[in-house]
Amino acid sequence: MIALKSTNSKFTFYKIVFLSALLAISFHPLTAEVSAKCSEPVGQEAAKTKMNAFIDQLINSMTLEEKIGQLNQVGGSMADTGPINPVSAQGQEMKNGGVGAVLNIWGVDVVRNYQRFAVENSRLHIPLMFGLDVIHGMKTIFPIPLAQAASWNMTAIEKAERLAAVEATATGVNWVFAPMVDIARDPRWGRIAEGGGEDTYLSSQIAYARVKGFQGDDLSKNNTVAACAKHYVGYGAAIAGRDYNTVDMSLQLLHDVYLPPFKSAVDAGVATIMSAFNTLNGVPASGNSYLIRQVLKNEFGFYGFVDSDAGAILELMAHGYAADRADAGRLAINAGVDMDMGTGIYAGELAGLIKNGSVSEKTLDDAVRRILTVKYKLGLFDDPYRYCDKKKEKKDLLTAEHRTAAKDLARQSIVLLKNDQHILPISKNIRKIAVIGPLVDAKNDMLGCWSFTGDKKDAVSILDGIKSAVSPKTAVLYAKGCDVGSTSTGQFDDALKIAAEADLVVMAIGESGDMTGEAHSRADISIPGNQEELVRRIQATGKPLVILLANGRPLTIPWLAGNVSTLVETWFLGSEAGHAIADVLFGDYNPSGKLPVSFPVSVGQIPLYYSECSTGRPLAEDPGSIFRSRYIDSPNDALFPFGYGLSYTTFQYSNLKLSKPELTTDQTLEVSVDITNTGSRQGEEVAQLYIRDLCASVCQPVKVLKRFEKIALNPSETKTVTFRLQQEDLKFHNAEMKWVAEPGDFMIYVGGNSKEVLQASFKLL
Ligand code: NOJ
Repeated sequence: MIALKSTNSKFTFYKIVFLSALLAISFHPLTAEVSAKCSEPVGQEAAKTKMNAFIDQLINSMTLEEKIGQLNQVGGSMADTGPINPVSAQGQEMKNGGVGAVLNIWGVDVVRNYQRFAVENSRLHIPLMFGLDVIHGMKTIFPIPLAQAASWNMTAIEKAERLAAVEATATGVNWVFAPMVDIARDPRWGRIAEGGGEDTYLSSQIAYARVKGFQGDDLSKNNTVAACAKHYVGYGAAIAGRDYNTVDMSLQLLHDVYLPPFKSAVDAGVATIMSAFNTLNGVPASGNSYLIRQVLKNEFGFYGFVDSDAGAILELMAHGYAADRADAGRLAINAGVDMDMGTGIYAGELAGLIKNGSVSEKTLDDAVRRILTVKYKLGLFDDPYRYCDKKKEKKDLLTAEHRTAAKDLARQSIVLLKNDQHILPISKNIRKIAVIGPLVDAKNDMLGCWSFTGDKKDAVSILDGIKSAVSPKTAVLYAKGCDVGSTSTGQFDDALKIAAEADLVVMAIGESGDMTGEAHSRADISIPGNQEELVRRIQATGKPLVILLANGRPLTIPWLAGNVSTLVETWFLGSEAGHAIADVLFGDYNPSGKLPVSFPVSVGQIPLYYSECSTGRPLAEDPGSIFRSRYIDSPNDALFPFGYGLSYTTFQYSNLKLSKPELTTDQTLEVSVDITNTGSRQGEEVAQLYIRDLCASVCQPVKVLKRFEKIALNPSETKTVTFRLQQEDLKFHNAEMKWVAEPGDFMIYVGGNSKEVLQASFKLL
């Protein structure tokens, strides 16, 4: 167990608790259940037993007020992330164990100051947790999560979070509000930038990798953090893509599409989960006992704690679900929300609710136990200052190793959308290159949303990246051309002038870094302002033209897609954006990213996602007929489909084989395909396997991703990729909400995106 520090008199209390616990190991049955199955393994049985005994004894010695204090989370002033009750380091609330956790502060000295005050001024000296939105890196900023998803590289994503945890802990933070694992199929929603995109399987793999990266294999290490999977659940399906809006969906959709990434996070051992703002089928997620108690805690076996989103408990009233503050507190805690982020409702109302019997002490104790268990696993009872190491803060931030990893992931996140004239890659010896656009020299934008802990001075702009990549003989000319949202043409002439002089033009256009993220929904997701007009004018010069898109969501770009030859999706790639983009432009890296989300032609198609169900009148069956499921003014298909992305080489898929035509319930089906690099460069390809259940008691999507593998191939090389499927992979929730695989015919599709695939079929017996 914890080696209690005999040098620290503050911890004499814990020694007594610990020793008496060892003498009297008699558990509350819930303690044994919660702690023994706790999602983060503590290792040895004996260590678990000690932990359980310690926490049990601690809870037995707590007053009602001290217990309630553990459920109270308050906000520091270093970041503004919404309406959160403020606290100062020496605040009255911090005394007497009135606070369990703080958010929005970081830095070793600051954190130590809060921790010392809380520990020294409370009777039981229980340490605080310090939570922060470390969404894609702390000081070294990695690509926004949606971009990371485009890498389809789970090892690189896990590594990014490992390093984010190293940096977060070096600044005193021991808890991060990430990963966001919300499925998002509406690009108007600004928070699509924070997640893994539209697909359940890909997002579930990412959720697992990110939790593992943050938490490592031992939460008590001083470089691992407690992760927080959010926002539980359905938040990404806000009607019309407007943030915080109502969510209404079938139970099948909820269980088959929106819940699995959370289950995956639980399977990875996630320590905490954040309950969402939205209502789901009429009941707010943060007061929803079915979602939290029944599904998350009972069915998924989640034994960490649930934190409400900021102010979400108070918002139960605005939703029209709770009559007053006390009612909101009652509904939230009874639903299973263990910690209250920022409203003070638990702190103010729980004692009364317990006295009048609307909340049981057992419910309170369960919440306290869950929170104390995470604190214990973080090693905070051993040493509350475990994450306050000045030496680490000096040496572990923005290291060369971290920047290299950020660049590696950034390169892999870039998606080559078009390269019709093979303008890319560009020779480094080009004589004169004109670099034009509002996102060319925009370090701050490169960091993207949720990067307030980063510093724009540490980011590499596209301009700097290009300058550092070209040969000394190359002249790099720059003009901004316009601002992101502006309709002025005042700066066009400067841009046209340098374009006329140059041998090639690279333009960087799109959104500013703050146009996505929380509360940043857009109704029009085309390229803002006059940027497309500038492209038209530059294109008219006849110079070879490369368009780099910077954006946090899919954009509607039918004109660009139809009229420019060379289009590269670069998202917001973080601290190393410029270097990563230059590597792709000049061929030091062959792009391998694939879209984790469909790009619509127009807003009118939204929500648009590849795994839709068939209508009774599928268009493809009779495209010439009027009475089909279609628009009269738009294609049905995406502009760029899910899974799509080009390379500087080409890949050919052939020889799709199934190991058997029929599958019984306990067998494994092997699906193999040969992939050949038919071009002249080494490259990486993401092979994707989709299935379709052709006839089921609940209609199933026309394609669902079930496996993928990223492979590297030399020119002319062929590799055979073999995927293995089992009955479990064919399951869905039927009308009775049973998780079943139904016998019948299935299609298998394999290819380099969700559209262009080879196909085969098999039967489940
Ligand atoms: C509100 C956001 O929805 C959530 O993602 C974030 O973690 C909290 N604020 C804390 O900043």
